Order: sequence, then structure tokens, then C-alpha cells
Amino acid sequence: MGRFRYHVFACTNKRAPEHARGSCVARNAEEILSMFREELKLHAIPQPFRINKSGCLDACEEGPVFAIYPDGVYYRIQSREDVRRVVTEHLRGGVIVSDLQIPAPSETS
Ligand code: FES
Repeated sequence: MGRFRYHVFACTNKRAPEHARGSCVARNAEEILSMFREELKLHAIPQPFRINKSGCLDACEEGPVFAIYPDGVYYRIQSREDVRRVVTEHLRGGVIVSDLQIPAPSETS
């Protein structure tokens, strides 16, 4: 195992409003990221983890996009309830929240 049990990447890519693919920031990624950090503190995840901002994760139309490694799971997270579920069910419980999951870019190309 690496240094962290989980490493979360939060896309905070921003594009012009008229861009055809849109962007995660236009879909409230920064607000969701703040909620994610709050919920991580609240639920005191026991294993070491890290959360970082990232550039485009190539699933723009599905945003806001969060990727969790080493599982390679990509999520569309749109609300505090979604955040809470990913934190408690996946990061704490080790169970993928399948109804929030989106295909990883490697699965679609
Ligand atoms: S802008 Fe977030 S995945 Fe592309």
C-alpha cells in the first residue's frame, strides 16, 4: 500500500461559460470540495487519506468530478448528501457508492 489509503482528486478546472464541455467549477466543484473537507473532518476517517485539487479529469460533462484512488472510482458529487455518502460509505466503509459513480475516462475511450 502507498502512503495514503485513499487519495481523492477533485477537479477544479474552469472554462469560459460558453465552452461546449463546460467545467466542474461551473458546476459548483469548489463548493462541493469545501463540503468534502468539512465532512472528512466531521467523520474522522481512520485511514490516512489526502484530498487535492486537480485539473480536468476528462469527464467534464459529468461534473463535478471526484476521483478516488487506488480504487480508480470516479464520482459525480452534487450535494452535501452525496459528499456524506462518499465519505462514510466509500472512504470509511470501503464500499463504492454505485449510484453516484460515473465511468472512468479509460472505460469510455
Ligand atoms: S472540467 Fe472537470 S473533468 Fe473536465
